[in-house]
Amino acid sequence: MLNKNLLILSKTMRNSKNKILKQFSTPNPIEIFINGEKHLVDPRMTIFQACHSVGVVIPRFCYHEKLSISGNCRMCLVEVEKAPKPVASCTAQIAPGMKIFTESEKTRIARGGVMEFLLMNHPLDCPICDQGGECDLQDIYMGYGFETSRYNEYKRAVEDKNIGPIITTNMNRCIHCTRCVRFAEEVIGENELGTMGRGKATEIGTYVEKMFTSELSGNLADLCPVGALSHGPYAFTSRPHELKSVNSIDIMESIIPSVEYNYRGPEIMRCLPKIHELVNDEWISDKSRYAYDGLKRQRLTTPLIKNKTTSQFEEITWEEAIKIASYKISSLKDPKKDLIGLIGEFNNIEEIIATKDLFSKLSNDNFLINNYPIKGSQRCEYLFNRSIPEVEELDLLLLVG
Ligand code: SF4
Ligand code: SF4
Ligand code: FES
Repeated sequence: MLNKNLLILSKTMRNSKNKILKQFSTPNPIEIFINGEKHLVDPRMTIFQACHSVGVVIPRFCYHEKLSISGNCRMCLVEVEKAPKPVASCTAQIAPGMKIFTESEKTRIARGGVMEFLLMNHPLDCPICDQGGECDLQDIYMGYGFETSRYNEYKRAVEDKNIGPIITTNMNRCIHCTRCVRFAEEVIGENELGTMGRGKATEIGTYVEKMFTSELSGNLADLCPVGALSHGPYAFTSRPHELKSVNSIDIMESIIPSVEYNYRGPEIMRCLPKIHELVNDEWISDKSRYAYDGLKRQRLTTPLIKNKTTSQFEEITWEEAIKIASYKISSLKDPKKDLIGLIGEFNNIEEIIATKDLFSKLSNDNFLINNYPIKGSQRCEYLFNRSIPEVEELDLLLLVG
């Protein structure tokens, strides 16, 4: 009876939650004008979001779809009719009848001015910077910067921070967008990074020097729009134009995130997250990111046999190994009792199925993957039948361990 009541209660709560969501998800669109063209957009959007939703690109450094809005960089300035000054579009809400100009002379000069200020203290590091070739600052400057700089003074120098081996810091290059600070706070849930000082003395860091220990730390380097935070293990290994990429999934992580492997010739150079809203958003753990080095180092590529006299493993050829294995299997008195197949969980499906078929013939299904017997043929016997977004719908979730 109690369970039934709870079930009814949870259904009512869910229905009312859906009703509220529905109310908010279907507001009446409002009319705005972007560069003279009329558009109907969701009234809850900012100018930046509205422009992007209709395909008008606005440059940005600090705005990120998955983080809170900070309005730090001012790169997204646009002209709005009747506004006395250019408006930071990522922070300004749209209003009915608003007239926005993203290509006007006022906007062009405002953006050029912001670029000039950003580069005042930015080092001329591009040839030795790991971000070179995929740097937002380079790209946006090419598109929106002035042709020459009027700045002749000394540039400020900022001490690099030691936050561990995964992230290399070059804090001279930091443009104080605070994406890293917001990611640490909002996604990781650790307030380890912050902004210190004001004006010219502003620095990003951990205040008291310490390691950034989160298992999601690699994402900081992906988020950083410049080369201030870069991937330590990838440093000085390749340039983006040398790399090809292939989409994949990562099997080291229990949620199986979507990833992209960048490779040069036969060698995997790095692993980056791929956007998959239902599983990993656009983040991956450091384990997923760096597990590929197991493909290069300490890898068993030839069969080994134990020498009984020396107790050492010695290399043999594949022909010899297969001969020894088939001799041992055929000389068993009762293979159904004495023979068990074992295969690791990271083998590909074809290998697992071929080995399972072999052992089904020889030893009546004595077959284990990573020490677990595989008996079931129904999918539901080994799946939890619950997708990651569905976890949000649960009334009760019991975590063990
Ligand atoms: Fe050049 Fe970008 Fe590196 Fe700055 S962050 S030195 S602009 S590549
Ligand atoms: Fe932005 Fe990079 Fe500086 Fe962090 S380190 S504030 S992400 S530029
Ligand atoms: Fe708007 Fe940075 S993107 S202020």
